[in-house]
Amino acid sequence: MADTYDLVVIGSGPGGYVCAIKAAQLGLKVACVEKRKTYGGTCLNVGCIPSKALLYASEAFAEAGHSFAEMGIEVSPKLNLEKMMAHKDKTVKSNVEGIAFLFKKNKITGLIGTGRIKSVGEVEVTKDDGSTETLKAKNICIATGSDVAGIPGLDVQFDETTIVSSDHAIALPEVPKKMVVVGGGVIGLELGSVWARLGAEVTVVEFLDKILGPMDSEVSTAFQKLLVKQGLTFKLGAKVTDVEKSKNGASVTFEPVKGGDAETIDADVVLVATGRKPYTEGLGLKEAGVALDDRGRVEIDAHFRTNVEGIYAIGDVVKGAMLAHKAEDEGVALAEILAGQSGHVNYDAIPSVVYTEPEVASVGKTEEELKKAGVEYNVGKFPFMANGRARSMLKTDGFVKVLADKKTDRVLGVHILGADAGDMIAEAALLMEFSGSSEDLARTSHAHPTLSEAVREAAFAAFAKPIHV
Ligand code: NAI
Repeated sequence: MADTYDLVVIGSGPGGYVCAIKAAQLGLKVACVEKRKTYGGTCLNVGCIPSKALLYASEAFAEAGHSFAEMGIEVSPKLNLEKMMAHKDKTVKSNVEGIAFLFKKNKITGLIGTGRIKSVGEVEVTKDDGSTETLKAKNICIATGSDVAGIPGLDVQFDETTIVSSDHAIALPEVPKKMVVVGGGVIGLELGSVWARLGAEVTVVEFLDKILGPMDSEVSTAFQKLLVKQGLTFKLGAKVTDVEKSKNGASVTFEPVKGGDAETIDADVVLVATGRKPYTEGLGLKEAGVALDDRGRVEIDAHFRTNVEGIYAIGDVVKGAMLAHKAEDEGVALAEILAGQSGHVNYDAIPSVVYTEPEVASVGKTEEELKKAGVEYNVGKFPFMANGRARSMLKTDGFVKVLADKKTDRVLGVHILGADAGDMIAEAALLMEFSGSSEDLARTSHAHPTLSEAVREAAFAAFAKPIHV
């Protein structure tokens, strides 16, 4: 059975490609099927990577126009959007080509075409020219990710010019004068920030009475204030009931969730960022008998097994946070399991980051979650205003908050609002992976002067007292 693969992965996003590479490294014969023209899935092609290129570039543009002067650099930045988009496209290209290179290096058969489970042990690939090829597989991994969900209960007509999803909000040909963002979640705030920095008047309409719903409320409130200072407008507790194309753009109608009069605002561009849904269309799951859960996700057990033997699923298409690194972790764990090892993912220590300016990062429990669970905890907080490095960089917004168990001092959650929060959260995730305490964190030497000293100080504050406030 020379042409039977040990593993055929459907989907080459961070879940699928990482699973394929890890499995190949562990000696399995692997193929990976991808329906886009390039590997890397949503994350590398239209999600994390291009948005980060734009976030970084637009942040530099905003800084050049604001804080540079305070540091004695006098410039008048001029936006060349075409070039900024070219920077984004180049970044995407080098990343997706990187995956193709890694496939080759690890002797993975990469196939561009649409994969469908033909039967247990068989994946049919339909190529662009309509031809098909059937791969035999001892194991199949569904890693098809997610797609734009739209607004629950509304049939939004995305024309991807005036009413756009995140896929196209990263490629607008010009800066809109007025932009309405439906949904104050991660995508809405990241992409809303990009266009606000480049000059758009951005209004975010959010159903909940806070932005970033699952985020620690204290962090979310402080973050919103900073975004307001940056020029974003928020309509919270507002349910969008209509998004329509108009003569010169589009209009968004919303009403207070608590009841009251509806309001309509016009915009040149409306970004709808109200969540994503698992992508399971055309995969032949029903025919193969693969069960979905009540939210349309592929149902799996603790070892990524579906109800059909030999078929597994990971990433956005299964339960859990829709995060690239969660999918990667699952990809590694599944590959290890298939290779006879004991792969495992610690879902309690998966960080989450919003790549705005400042960034927002967290790992573990929020205060609200601890209160709800009746867990007694200590809080240690430290503001970046009191951090020397932050002052020298003019990045004094935000704070670090460490939540530790009152009895054992074990760290249960860390929340950072501040510059480079996304990188700094890594030490908190590592600490939690080892069930560390706030004292462990505080007694670990941190280089001076660094922003990470604020993390240490917050840990000091959780079990004793911070030094610098
Ligand atoms: P989200 O779930 O983060 O936010 C959607 C927001 O839309 C929610 O706050 C919800 O209350 C609101 N909403 C829903 N219906 C509404 C209505 N009718 N009117 C007003 N507001 C309404 O979803 P988002 O931002 O689209 O992101 C999708 C997924 O992608 C998330 O799971 C997110 O974690 C992930 N993602 C992660 C990133 C990161 O880690 N940096 C970056 C981008 C996406």
